[in-house]
Amino acid sequence: MLCELLFKKLCKNVRSKMECFKMVRIGIIGCGQISKFHYEGYAKAGAKIAHVCDLRPDVGRPVADRYGAKFSTDYRALIGDADVDLVAVLTTAASHREICLAAMAAGKGVVCEKTLSDTPAVSAEIARAAEQAGTFFATAYMKRFFPAAIQARKLLDGMGQIISVYARSFQPWNLWTAPLPQGFLEKPSHLVRNYGGGAVVCCGSHVVDLIHWLAGRPTRIAGQLHHPPGADFDIQANAMMWMEQGGVVHFETCWHPLKTIGLEHNGWDEKVEITTVTGRLEFSTVVWNNPVNPALLVHHDDASGKTVEYRYEAMNPFDAEMAEMVRRFEAGEKGLPSAWDGYVVDEILAAIVASARQNTLVEMKWRDRTPC
Ligand SMILES: NC(=O)c1ccc[n+]([C@@H]2O[C@H](COP(=O)([O-])OP(=O)(O)OC[C@H]3O[C@@H](n4cnc5c(N)ncnc54)[C@H](O)[C@@H]3O)[C@@H](O)[C@H]2O)c1
Repeated sequence: MLCELLFKKLCKNVRSKMECFKMVRIGIIGCGQISKFHYEGYAKAGAKIAHVCDLRPDVGRPVADRYGAKFSTDYRALIGDADVDLVAVLTTAASHREICLAAMAAGKGVVCEKTLSDTPAVSAEIARAAEQAGTFFATAYMKRFFPAAIQARKLLDGMGQIISVYARSFQPWNLWTAPLPQGFLEKPSHLVRNYGGGAVVCCGSHVVDLIHWLAGRPTRIAGQLHHPPGADFDIQANAMMWMEQGGVVHFETCWHPLKTIGLEHNGWDEKVEITTVTGRLEFSTVVWNNPVNPALLVHHDDASGKTVEYRYEAMNPFDAEMAEMVRRFEAGEKGLPSAWDGYVVDEILAAIVASARQNTLVEMKWRDRTPC
């Protein structure tokens, strides 16, 4: 009897130790251009790619084969798979609602690529569902994971009130003087169909997420958009935002024809400059899909007159993002940026577009606060 009890206890200990070392099992839904950064990041973080799904076997099956994972063309098969813990939703924005809600209903954790959806009402619905489900949910804005961005967030806490923010995302893609690529004059265009808009959504969303993370939420927004003649998508967006905690944000984003501007002289020119009552931070990012240089943070402290440059190893922010997702999921922590963070970005983007279209100042109404 005693032997049997001891044996059972030993088995229980071994089982719980094995549970501790169990790898997080990832399901990848959508194997397009962004997916590689997710599955490679998860694999580097020690997670197991367990199941891969894409409507197109020609793009999805090779990824599944690379990791010895299962493959499906129907996302419901992946979501119903007991061998998947955390689902990466890497399809285009219009499909995020259906897939995220189904994944949460099946009790899976979710990491959803930005933008959370293509309208703020839908993003708020996803965020509410995530809150109710209580499962792990994160919106993937990877630029928060540059070490320079994390240091900026830390320093800001001790820098007092924000006076002004200048945030810019200029990315090299000549849609100004070169003819538009084939199909770009279709309505809806490829960009609107897949991403919900042009530069303001594709490039601007990242910087809007950084603005929200570093400087809070706006109360009012005035925006303008520039569209190429005959096109339904913008290639330039500008906005002024008056912030709840004080300070004014000047935001601009565009695809532009210049090949040598920016920190790395390669046309990539993205930065957030924050002036507070005690000093200034300047955070500059590097090109997202093949970083060979580090993002840079410069901190000027007015009292001492000192300027400090924070330089880190060149790294891909996706690797840091996926490692943090795995760590938080394993630790039972909340997903960050959260679903509500993703919603806030989409509400701000929609306000910029509405302000530009109606030529008015938009007063912000947040759907996660009462009154709605
Ligand atoms: N973080 C970034 O810097 C960044 C950059 C580009 C794209 N994105 C975001 O990543 C997401 C995907 O963009 P992309 O450029 O990789 O798109 P993509 O069109 O290249 O890839 C999407 C893939 O999803 C598949 N798919 C679509 N619906 C599906 C469904 N219901 N079930 C299974 N598979 C489905 C498609 O067949 C396609 O292979 C978007 O939300 C986009 O905004 C983020």
